[in-house]
This record gives sequence, C-alpha cells and structure tokens, in this order.
Amino acid sequence: MNWFHKQRKYVFEWKHDRHSHLLPYLDDGVKTLDESVALMKRMIALGVERFTFTPHIAFPNMMNDKHSIYGALLIVRKHLEKEGVSVPMEAAAEYRMGEFMLELIERDDILATADKEVLVEHSFFAPSCYADDIICKLIEKGYQPVLAHPERYPFYYDDVVKHCAEMKHKGCKIQVNILSFTGYYGKEAQQGIARLYKAGVADYYASDLHNERQMEMLEHFITRSVL
Ligand SMILES: [Fe+2]
Repeated sequence: MNWFHKQRKYVFEWKHDRHSHLLPYLDDGVKTLDESVALMKRMIALGVERFTFTPHIAFPNMMNDKHSIYGALLIVRKHLEKEGVSVPMEAAAEYRMGEFMLELIERDDILATADKEVLVEHSFFAPSCYADDIICKLIEKGYQPVLAHPERYPFYYDDVVKHCAEMKHKGCKIQVNILSFTGYYGKEAQQGIARLYKAGVADYYASDLHNERQMEMLEHFITRSVL
C-alpha cells in the first residue's frame, strides 16, 4: 500500500514488512503461535502483503540459527495454510554486530533474505567496533547489509542524517521503525526519524513488531494516517 493523502504528514511504502519478531519461541518477540498468527493477520489488515521475519541473533544470549529460525517459520507457515491464509513469508535475522558474526560470514552461515539482504544492528549502548569489518565482509560475499533503526541509537542522536549518510557510503541500506514516528521509543528517536524522512535517507520502513502493545500503537498510527 502506498500511504498517500494530501493531509498526511508522512508518506511511505509498507507493503513488505522487512523487520519483525513474529516467529514464536525464539527471542524477545512473540511467545506463542496464536499470538504470532493473530498479529500477522492484523498486519495484513493494515495492508502488509509480504513478511520477512527477523529474529535476533546476538551473542551470547540470543544465538538463534538456521535450524531454530527455519523451524519456527515452518510451524507458522503450516498453521496459516491450515487457516486458509496465504501470504508470502520468509525468515532472515537481525544480527547484533559483534565478533561472532565475522566467523559466521566466513563460514557462509548467514541468514539473509531471498534478495541477499542482511539486517544488522548496533547495541543501544555503543556502536559496534566490528561494524566496518562486518559490512565490508558481507559486501565481499555478495550480501547487502541493511542497518536497522538508526534513529534509535543514542550515539546517533547528535546528527542521525550524517551518521546514516556515512553508513550508506560504506554500502549499507537504512531501515527505520514506523513506530518511531509515534514517539514510542522516545522523543529523540521521533525527532530522528522525522529528520531522516525529510532528508529522504530511509530505504525501508518496517514494524520491528514484538508484541500486542506495539501492534496497537502501529494500528493507531497507520489508521489515523490513511483514509
Ligand atoms: Fe528488531
């Protein structure tokens, strides 16, 4: 769906949701299959036509792998098929950039989208000192790195547009969280996404959905933003 209306403050495309934690059992996202399916249906009702699920892979606490992630994807897919819901879906991951990732890249053990995009994030405390190396090596291997929610990093608050321009120069695409528009992550993230929007820096808008509460906020924002 192309969100467009002359009175709307923000216009962006969100047919393909490329960042969410809707696969159950894996991380700090949804906890049950029922919750996963219910939230997916609500996103479909908002206009989402395609899902890329991105469970966390972070050392040492959330070391999901292909086995656990594709297993959960299969369960969700089968359940939706049984209910007669047909929607394209795939699983990749959201990698918190750290040394462990260099080894995974070396082993070609990376969860990417069908388009070979790899979602990466910094921790919220400090930028990853491995980021440049990881981005370089991903690109060397034919992957497209995508930086998740730059507007949320406190160490980017000083000039998020400049930091994103630097990341783009290094070869990253930029993905922002729709909920940042609402102030859900705080005033700085809200101001940050507004600046990125104005500068036209974001490649992708995504939900980064984890739970029911975020779904309600998303529904509120999207439904009051479109006719
Ligand atoms: Fe996420």
